[in-house]
Order: sequence, then structure tokens, then C-alpha cells
Amino acid sequence: MPTAEPPGSVLLTGASQGIGRAILLSLARDKQPVVSLSRTRPELPDSTGSEFDYVAWKQLDLSNADEVARCATSLRATVIRALVLCAVDYGANERHPVAATSAQEWQRAIVTNCIGHSLLVSLLLPKLIANPPGIIVNLSSDVAVLPAPGRAAYAASKAGLHAVLRTVAAEHSEEQLRVYQLIPTFQSITDGIRRRRPAGFDFSGYADPALIAEIVRKIVSPAGSEAAPGTYLIQRDGTLHSYPEITHL
Ligand SMILES: NC(=O)c1ccc[n+]([C@@H]2O[C@H](COP(=O)([O-])OP(=O)(O)OC[C@H]3O[C@@H](n4cnc5c(N)ncnc54)[C@H](OP(=O)(O)O)[C@@H]3O)[C@@H](O)[C@H]2O)c1
Repeated sequence: MPTAEPPGSVLLTGASQGIGRAILLSLARDKQPVVSLSRTRPELPDSTGSEFDYVAWKQLDLSNADEVARCATSLRATVIRALVLCAVDYGANERHPVAATSAQEWQRAIVTNCIGHSLLVSLLLPKLIANPPGIIVNLSSDVAVLPAPGRAAYAASKAGLHAVLRTVAAEHSEEQLRVYQLIPTFQSITDGIRRRRPAGFDFSGYADPALIAEIVRKIVSPAGSEAAPGTYLIQRDGTLHSYPEITHL
């Protein structure tokens, strides 16, 4: 019996915790091969099944351009079907005005979230479009499109990557590359968010990261997604609402 062509891997940044880790688990349970990228190795639950046979990990610090380049080179022999961008450096824990934002905080957030991801995308684009259609999914944020008082460095980094990916989408046809930018309209309980909330904070209004993970799993499914490429607001009930970006003036 001829065996089916392997579908290729999903490359996932920020897989060690939070929404990225939830995406990793969701893809692994779906037996979609994943190459996960983060500075620390994702801790996987004990499993008697074989789902984690599909998970690989490469250590990567996105704030180091040389490491990003080496990582891209090390993936030369890997077929990559989709790239999911979920890593984030939220910057300082406390909100503060632009005038109180330090050089180090601007640097940290923008270098990791925007420049590191942009470099990874640019280095992997030829690979993504070699097996069309390649897929890019970016966990964007409301701060990329709305004012974000007290969170300027984070907002700048997210808006920068959002703009880069709109440009990448405009440079390719949908037959070559499908670019999705997802903007959650609610907060999810993640390690990064926990660190930024005071002790005793009530998280009852926050979502389980698995909600977003399920949406991403469907978008990158080898069976193909019903959702057209573009920017979407993710609603609390798990539905996607198209977000009309300005395309001309
Ligand atoms: N949580 C929410 O409510 C929410 C709302 C809107 C949008 N988002 C977006 O959703 C995404 C995930 O957020 P989250 O709350 O799940 O984040 P999180 O819990 O803080 O996890 C961040 C991930 O990024 C990785 N990371 C951080 N700095 C890195 C670096 N220099 N190089 C490589 N990896 C690095 C971390 O892994 P290592 O430390 O192991 O490197 C970790 O896996 C982000 O894009 C965020 O903007 C989240």
C-alpha cells in the first residue's frame, strides 16, 4: 500500500507555556507534527498514547538574530506547512505611561515580538510557499489596532508585527500563502498574564487557553480551513468575526 505523503510540520513559537503550549497540546492530540520553539523546553503531560511522538522542540531566543538565523538554517530539511507565532515578551509587569517607559523595555518587547518574529518569517517564507498554500497564524492583540494606555512598548511590538504580516500577505497571492491574524476580544489565563496581575486577582472572567488553541488547530488543519485568510476578532464563544482592516485611503 502506498503511504500518504506526510503533511509537513507546524512550526510554533512560544510553545513552552500559555496559549502556545495549549496549541502544542491540541496539535499533538490531532497528530499534526509540530516543531516547537522557545527558550525553555515545553513540559508535556504524561501520556500512554503516542501523540507526543509528533512533537519536536528546538531552543530559540527570538531576541537573538543570530539564533533565529541558525534556527532557520537547521530547518532546511523540514517540510513546514504552517508557522504559528505565539511567543511574547510582555515587557514590564506594571502598566505605566509612555514617559515612564525605559529604553530596555522598548528594546525587549520590540526585539522579541516584532523583530525576532519578522526575521523568522522572512527567512522561512521561501519554504512556506514552496508547498502552497503556506499558512501563517499570528496571535495578534487588541493593542495592535487600538490605543493601549500604560502598555506602549508591548503595543508597539504587536502593531509592528501586525503591519509586517499585512505586508507579507499583500506580497503573496492566497494560493501561495494564507495569513491569519487573530485578535482575542477577551483575556486568557496564561503564565504571562498571571505574572502581570496582583496576588488574589479574580480570574473567573478569563478564558482557558484551550479555546484559542482549538481555533488555531482548525486553521492549520491539513484538511484546510473554511475561514478565508485575513484578520479576525476571536469572540468569547469561540467564533471568529472578520476585522475589516483599512486597505486604501
Ligand atoms: N493571554 C491573553 O489573554 C492574550 C490576549 C491577547 C493576545 N495574546 C497574545 O497571545 C500570545 C500568547 O500569549 P500568552 O499570554 O500565552 O504568553 P505567555 O504565557 O507569556 O507565554 C509566552 C511564550 O513566549 C515565549 N518567549 C518569551 N520570550 C521569548 C524569547 N525571547 N524567545 C523565544 N520565546 C520567548 C515563552 O517561552 P520561553 O520563556 O520558554 O522562551 C512562552 O512560551 C501572545 O502573542 C500575546 O500577545 C494573549
